Amino acid sequence: MSLTWSAKDHKNTNPPPAATGIKRPRNDNGNKVTVVLGAQWGDEGKGKVVDLLATEADMVCRCQGGNNAGHTVVVDGKEYDFHLLPSGIINSKSISLIGNGVVIHLPGLFEEGDKNDKKGLKGWDKRLIVSDRAHLVFDFHQVVDGLQETERQAQEGKNIGTTKKGIGPAYSSKASRTGLRVCDLLGDFKDFSTRFKNLVRQYQSMYPSLTVDTEDQLRKLKEYAERLRPMVRDGVYYMYEALHGPPKKILVEGANAALLDIDFGTYPFVTSSNCTVGGACTGLGIPPANIGDVFGVAKAYTTRVGIGAFPTEQLNASGELLQTRGHEIGVTTGRKRRCGWLDLVIVRYAQMINSFTAIALTKLDILDVLDEIKVGVAYKLNGKRIPHFPANMDVLHKVEVEYETFPGWKTDTSAARKWNDLPAKAQNYIRFIENHIGVPIKWVGVGKSRECMIQMF
Ligand code: GDP
Ligand code: IMO
Ligand code: MG
Repeated sequence: MSLTWSAKDHKNTNPPPAATGIKRPRNDNGNKVTVVLGAQWGDEGKGKVVDLLATEADMVCRCQGGNNAGHTVVVDGKEYDFHLLPSGIINSKSISLIGNGVVIHLPGLFEEGDKNDKKGLKGWDKRLIVSDRAHLVFDFHQVVDGLQETERQAQEGKNIGTTKKGIGPAYSSKASRTGLRVCDLLGDFKDFSTRFKNLVRQYQSMYPSLTVDTEDQLRKLKEYAERLRPMVRDGVYYMYEALHGPPKKILVEGANAALLDIDFGTYPFVTSSNCTVGGACTGLGIPPANIGDVFGVAKAYTTRVGIGAFPTEQLNASGELLQTRGHEIGVTTGRKRRCGWLDLVIVRYAQMINSFTAIALTKLDILDVLDEIKVGVAYKLNGKRIPHFPANMDVLHKVEVEYETFPGWKTDTSAARKWNDLPAKAQNYIRFIENHIGVPIKWVGVGKSRECMIQMF
């Protein structure tokens, strides 16, 4: 249905050139991977879009982030929330892969798996593969995340509003080359213990109030190691084989979103990984030539959790209506999401970086009751339109948003299943968005469940 795939893309079954010295034919790069990415500040409905595509995928992979993500999937009236597990884990016929770019908190992973097992998601651990190169998030990383937030608040008067899942500290350990990976945990435990203790000491020298029961932590980690061991593979080789073996439909589920990207997002109010398309390559060992369709997910309005500039935010009745009607509450932290009008400046910016093949526009149904709907189409500084998305947050705080206003359709769209079921005013809204971004809208979401998705082509 929607994972575009054609047999001509899958001719190669040759081993890597180094093994035989035989060059693979040109333009024969193996299977193409479909990538799903958030085009705003997260919580666009990626989980739902991945679930839809995952029904026919052979593999669903996470490439970055950790359990800061919260992806909701609603199937047959049952609601699942995934944090570290790829949303495709629901599909009992597909393999889920956690790639090297992900940071894994093992207690979080097993807690999530066990919780879903109780909900009826049997056998998840049999179909989960974990890269040996993935970095570990330790409990003390999470404590340090909290300490850093307190410090930011004290020093700068504001924090980032992180999820306190230890994401920033774990990626910092990775970048400073003191981090520990899955392969270290499964290797010589004595060596792992020494490096773990050194890492603890390093953080304690920065945060003297940090107390860690090292022996207790190591004991628990040793237990987790044995539970994890059967799932662990060399992630690069596993992906290489998946790309170059028999035809396979491979899906990558982005976590977080473009405006939270460490390089391209609203820095420093961002997460610590690349949530744009490059993250799929670096976080899974996928060569750029194997990237096929890149689907961007955008809500029909905008939300943001945590601190940071939000030019189209509505601190008024419209914002409150979006928040309550859209049940805009964070899946990971339970915080209320800030709400505002759809900002097409940010979606176009996400498009510049990701070159989306098509967009999934979610939560159109939430707009059903509005008299009028606004869309941010440009930013102005000192009365003049600016062509770019500002890097500097002081500048972003100063922009004035230029809006287009649309009449509301005031009709319940939740039962719509095809384009013609939508009221003309809603169609007009969708077509305007499509033209403005310059990317086709392939799906329109009108409800939480799997079937509440209109496929346009
Ligand atoms: P993600 O992090 O991008 O996967 O998104 P979240 O799961 O954090 O938040 C999206 C929320 O919107 C979830 O509660 C979804 O069930 C819900 N959702 C997704 N698509 C639609 C839609 O088209 N309409 C409605 N009403 N809810 C939706
Ligand atoms: P999904 O995948 C929404 C935000 C946090 C905070 C900032 C940094 O569900 O869309 P972190 O804990 O990553 O250091 O927090 O990033 N954030 C998200 N907001 N959805 C997410 O993920 C997010 N992941 C991180 O709220 O502002
Ligand atoms: Mg979410």
